[in-house]
Amino acid sequence: MRGLLVLLTAVSAVLAAKPSPLDGVTALVKRRIPKHANNFTFQLVEGTPDSFTVSDSKGQKGGITVQCTTVSACSRGLYTYLTEFGGVDIWWTGSRLDQLPTRLPSVGSPVNGSSIVPWRYHFNTVTFSYTTAFWGFDKWELLLDWLALRGVNLPLAWVGNEYILIQVFKEVGLSDAEINSFLSGPAFQSWNRFGNIQGSWGGALPMQWVEDQFDLQKQLVQRMVELGMTPVLPSFTGFVPATLQNHFPNASIAIGSSWSGFPTSLTNDSFLSPSDPLFSQLQASFISKQMKAYGNVSHIYTLDQYNENNPASGDLDYLRNVTAGTFESLRAADPQAVWLMQGWLFFSSESFWTNERVEAYLGGVPNPQDMIVLDLYSEAQPQWNRTNNYFGKQWVWCELHGYGGNMGFEGNLEELTQAPLAALNSPNSTMTGMGLTMEGQEGNELVYDILLDQAWSSTPLNTTSYVEKWVARRYIADPLPAAATHAWSTLATTVYANQDPNSQASIKSILELAPATSGLVNRTGHHPTLVPYDTDTSVLPALQLLLQASNASQSLRSSPEFQNDLVDVARQLLANRFIDAYQGLIAVWNSSITSDHAVRIAGQPLLNILSDMDALLATNENFLLSTWIQDARQWATVGPGRLARTNQTYAAYLEYNARNQLTLWGPDGEINDYASKQWAGLVGQYYKQRWATWIDYLASVKQTGSIAAYNATLISQTLIEVGKTFDAQIWGNKTRGETWGTTGDAVKLAQGVLDTWA
Ligand SMILES: *[C@@H]1O[C@H](CO)[C@@H](O)[C@H](O)[C@H]1NC(C)=O
Ligand SMILES: *[C@@H]1O[C@H](CO)[C@@H](O)[C@H](O)[C@H]1NC(C)=O
Ligand SMILES: *[C@@H]1O[C@H](CO)[C@@H](O)[C@H](O)[C@H]1NC(C)=O
Ligand SMILES: *[C@@H]1O[C@H](CO)[C@@H](O)[C@H](O)[C@H]1NC(C)=O
Ligand SMILES: *[C@@H]1O[C@H](CO)[C@@H](O)[C@H](O)[C@H]1NC(C)=O
Ligand SMILES: *[C@@H]1O[C@H](CO)[C@@H](O)[C@H](O)[C@H]1NC(C)=O
Ligand SMILES: *[C@@H]1O[C@H](CO)[C@@H](O)[C@H](O)[C@H]1NC(C)=O
Ligand SMILES: *[C@@H]1O[C@H](CO)[C@@H](O)[C@H](O)[C@H]1NC(C)=O
Ligand SMILES: *[C@@H]1O[C@H](CO)[C@@H](O)[C@H](O)[C@H]1NC(C)=O
Ligand SMILES: *[C@@H]1O[C@H](CO)[C@@H](O)[C@H](O)[C@H]1NC(C)=O
Ligand SMILES: *[C@@H]1O[C@H](CO)[C@@H](O)[C@H](O)[C@H]1NC(C)=O
Ligand SMILES: *[C@@H]1O[C@H](CO)[C@@H](O)[C@H](O)[C@H]1NC(C)=O
Repeated sequence: MRGLLVLLTAVSAVLAAKPSPLDGVTALVKRRIPKHANNFTFQLVEGTPDSFTVSDSKGQKGGITVQCTTVSACSRGLYTYLTEFGGVDIWWTGSRLDQLPTRLPSVGSPVNGSSIVPWRYHFNTVTFSYTTAFWGFDKWELLLDWLALRGVNLPLAWVGNEYILIQVFKEVGLSDAEINSFLSGPAFQSWNRFGNIQGSWGGALPMQWVEDQFDLQKQLVQRMVELGMTPVLPSFTGFVPATLQNHFPNASIAIGSSWSGFPTSLTNDSFLSPSDPLFSQLQASFISKQMKAYGNVSHIYTLDQYNENNPASGDLDYLRNVTAGTFESLRAADPQAVWLMQGWLFFSSESFWTNERVEAYLGGVPNPQDMIVLDLYSEAQPQWNRTNNYFGKQWVWCELHGYGGNMGFEGNLEELTQAPLAALNSPNSTMTGMGLTMEGQEGNELVYDILLDQAWSSTPLNTTSYVEKWVARRYIADPLPAAATHAWSTLATTVYANQDPNSQASIKSILELAPATSGLVNRTGHHPTLVPYDTDTSVLPALQLLLQASNASQSLRSSPEFQNDLVDVARQLLANRFIDAYQGLIAVWNSSITSDHAVRIAGQPLLNILSDMDALLATNENFLLSTWIQDARQWATVGPGRLARTNQTYAAYLEYNARNQLTLWGPDGEINDYASKQWAGLVGQYYKQRWATWIDYLASVKQTGSIAAYNATLISQTLIEVGKTFDAQIWGNKTRGETWGTTGDAVKLAQGVLDTWA
């Protein structure tokens, strides 16, 4: 009888297995921790949003129960258990959640948590180009799990935008050719979406790309929703192909300003006035098509009209009309629409955006809850405090931290743990979120983690103990050598305690800049090169300590995150030593010595550093140019396994896009080196070649006996040509001996770096 009852209960459980809002979290556990798939129980309970309780399961010895008031809180509750009890985590470099102990550690007294803000936000519009441009679903899946576990519930979702936009333009009669001439290449779509650029250099955007990205977006949106997130979806912004005017002679379309020195054909985007009835028509069309494609999953829309483009007029009525018209179009298309915008313009064009203009512009949107402004660079250049909390609109405290995915160490842990709380608790605060708006995700993961964790603590996290626990779960070594923790506490109190107001954001290394005799060192502001810490008491001891730790523990040596960090720290040491080598060369150049030989000798250390760095980076999968290129080229291959076919024309186009973004960023070096990276292949074959070419030139000028003969225009043109040649190459070209994977031993090479360059 009892057996039958159990059977019946089991059968009814199967029959009752209808979809639950928590299926996404359960699936995450199955995906990342299959051995413990049945050991976690999740329950939605009534209560204030975004709260959780983690406890030992009642009646199931060794099981863990997470109760939550939202799906996002459940995954954050799971994360709290995994990190604080399980000692494991998921990283940009991979998931280590499967290293959870076989016997789950018990919780004891239940642990509660709740978010201090309704929104935890992630992404900058440009992250979709600088980091994820070429990602397939596997990489996305890792990042979405990373986000879900950390409690992010508001991610931006730009992928596939062009598919919808094309349908909208076709519907009003634009031809394929007209539309195509407007769209930008796969590595540059963010700035087309922002209205900064139009068109594609190196070839037109293939429809294959548009369709594949649309398919990817369907998967991404669905996964975001399953994980309890509200995707922030695109909308119609007003940027249109110039020839729309021919189809609608009476429409109010203005040609916008030019951006970053691009030729007019690639910038000066046409902007349809939001007060024109055609704007509302296109908005309604866009939103209904999007809703049909992805379902009724979100009412929050990303929409930026003046990112690094100033409005045609500063008249207050004009500005108010622009937002009023735009918002009315959104509401007409979706009665619950909320407008999310990046607040970057208020900082980058601060002189245009006076307080009264900001007030007029935001004032076109009637109610405080109708708009969310991302205070994009809160850790260094907050604007909420000069704009009366964005004149009452909701706003999100965002950490920008880095430009173009540059990799230099930088951060300020105290600021990240204290400033958001101060803003939240300040009088009249309308802050409703915290989030990450990095342009690209490359390294410095610690400073991103701590902000998302701070969003779940109403008191500032203790940065000392935070870093200790972070290191312990990052390396999962048993035992963890004290030197490993010491390495990180050293970094935490030096490079991650940066209070220099002139050198905020990740520090750009001069080795990635086009060589020049002046102007490289000690830059401040955007893309600082001023190193705001003392290398000899920070990066150098950290490298010594990591190497010491690696000698003490075999399990540490085999930790993927440790290997990553060892390479990263040694990389930073070389990057900083390059500045000294460069200063040495410049001293010889400016001296009265007239021998070209002296210049070559002084130039040799620069080239040696670049060779050593390239070899070091080649040991680790996270520092390879070939990965970026392979991710790009994969989209040109269709069919499984041996039946796979690659369209070589398309693959070459994708590779050109991938290379050009990192290097010239534009057909002729318009934003040269903005998105530079320290990756094997790029350092050894591009930066090194550029420096070698330049040193040759310096030597040849020196030989003439007059350094006044140095022609900056001439050498700069030569170096752009080096870039064009590099961009046109195909990776894996046998004649250059390039390989796709890693090579060499990280510990040995990092030790070599220390021996040679300490
Ligand atoms: C954990 O799950 C495994 C199988 O998934 C099961 O054998 C084991 O009994 C579970 N343990 C607990 C404590 O739930
Ligand atoms: C934790 O949350 C539960 C359920 O919301 C509540 O009953 C309990 O009092 C809380 N405990 C603490 C210590 O806050
Ligand atoms: C444009 O406006 C003019 C003058 O108001 C009108 O005659 C014409 O029909 C309009 N054209 C279109 C295409 O709406
Ligand atoms: C492009 O914009 C610039 C100002 O940024 C302006 O001087 C130029 O005339 C514009 N070109 C066109 C074709 O409108
Ligand atoms: C703003 O919109 C109002 C109402 O549509 C209109 O009367 C006014 O002329 C517009 N002002 C500007 C400067 O565009
Ligand atoms: C806003 O805060 C920043 C950083 O604390 C500060 O530098 C700036 O002066 C403040 N601006 C105003 C108007 O208070
Ligand atoms: C808060 O708002 C009140 C009422 O509008 C105002 O009087 C006060 O000055 C504001 N305080 C701050 C610090 O902005
Ligand atoms: C922070 O944590 C460290 C290490 O656990 C501890 O020594 C220190 O007292 C803590 N600081 C504060 C302000 O609690
Ligand atoms: C850069 O700044 C450092 C530290 O302030 C200084 O020692 C060095 O001379 C500066 N170099 C140049 C080229 O300005
Ligand atoms: C290969 O790609 C190019 C560029 O996208 C395209 O024009 C061509 O039609 C493609 N060829 C095949 C066979 O699909
Ligand atoms: C420098 O080089 C440029 C480009 O080749 C050339 O046009 C210019 O005349 C040169 N200047 C001098 C002073 O030689
Ligand atoms: C391969 O490399 C050689 C030597 O650098 C070069 O001449 C050739 O153009 C390259 N081919 C491609 C497709 O990149």
